[in-house]
Amino acid sequence: MNSREDFLPINGTDYVEFYVGNAKQAAYYYQTAFGFQPLAYAGLETGLKDRTSYVLVQDKIRFVFTSSLVPDSEIAVHAMNHGDGVKVVALWVDDARKSWKETTARGAVSCLEPKVEKDEHGEAVFSGIRTYGETVHIFVERKNYNGPFLPGYVAWNPEYKTRDTGLKYVDHMVGNVGWNEMNKWVNFYADTMGFTQLASFDDKDISTEYTALMSKVMTNGNGRIKFPINEPAEGRKRSQVEEYLDFFGTSGVQHVAMATENILETVGELRKRGIEFLTVPDSYYDTVLNRVGKIDEEILALKKLGILVDRDDEGYLLQIFTKPVEDRPTVFYEIIQRKGAKSFGKGNFKALFESIELEQVRRGTL
Ligand code: FE2
Repeated sequence: MNSREDFLPINGTDYVEFYVGNAKQAAYYYQTAFGFQPLAYAGLETGLKDRTSYVLVQDKIRFVFTSSLVPDSEIAVHAMNHGDGVKVVALWVDDARKSWKETTARGAVSCLEPKVEKDEHGEAVFSGIRTYGETVHIFVERKNYNGPFLPGYVAWNPEYKTRDTGLKYVDHMVGNVGWNEMNKWVNFYADTMGFTQLASFDDKDISTEYTALMSKVMTNGNGRIKFPINEPAEGRKRSQVEEYLDFFGTSGVQHVAMATENILETVGELRKRGIEFLTVPDSYYDTVLNRVGKIDEEILALKKLGILVDRDDEGYLLQIFTKPVEDRPTVFYEIIQRKGAKSFGKGNFKALFESIELEQVRRGTL
């Protein structure tokens, strides 16, 4: 066997599952504010006794919001300890049994041995491994399933619908890990899942007068999965990664980047619906074109919405970050439009982190 053959082929992100305090209201927020469409439901009416899940979709992005109906379940404890946050980053594979075998043989810790679930729409195979903090990867094999989501869920088709906001797919998902743990988790993705390193940023790239962090980006064989891993670095004050770790209580998913093909329209619509974004000083736009050169978009339109620009060897990208979307300063979103660039916006790091520090000052957590 060719040693460079991908032992863990992944078709893409299957779904992201959040454990939350109130799945019904979370679902309404993601419908109303982000323009997700109702897809599937599981709860008391479908025979579950202990939890409720709402599944929402926007193009290729599927989010599941799950809350506990009982006080002492894993879901309830997770919500109590971490606040609303990501529990499962599910990966779509053709062979969930082989994915489990290959990764656990290389040292990944199992959280779910391969199992088959069936309903009248067919069968799906699941398996899972642990990653940083309490986060898990579930491998989902769905080639013999054609129901609305997965076995056990029924179609959810409420009267209330909203228009989508042009979000297309998960571009990347970032993990925040503890002090000096970045390389441990980089090695985990390399050793157990065959990922390779795409880029790295050290505290010289990502630091301000006060705070710093380090980051390495891991990607799978076909490049469809990109997981940057951040760790805090020593600075004069408490960095955003430390703040996350303090409030989430452990390592976890920091942000999900969702791609659009028209960031001006998408962000304009999200702002109208109440999504709050980080802003950079107006002076950012005085010099940005010197840095990135010619772009298709009107700089004034970008400035009005607070959209950032960066360029690499292959093109440029447009990006913007929301404020945290729950009470604790933990999970947030990035909206990104790639115009050739395959990087992550290194040129914007400093302006962004200064913006985050301003928010931290307001929270009294810097
Ligand atoms: Fe990002």
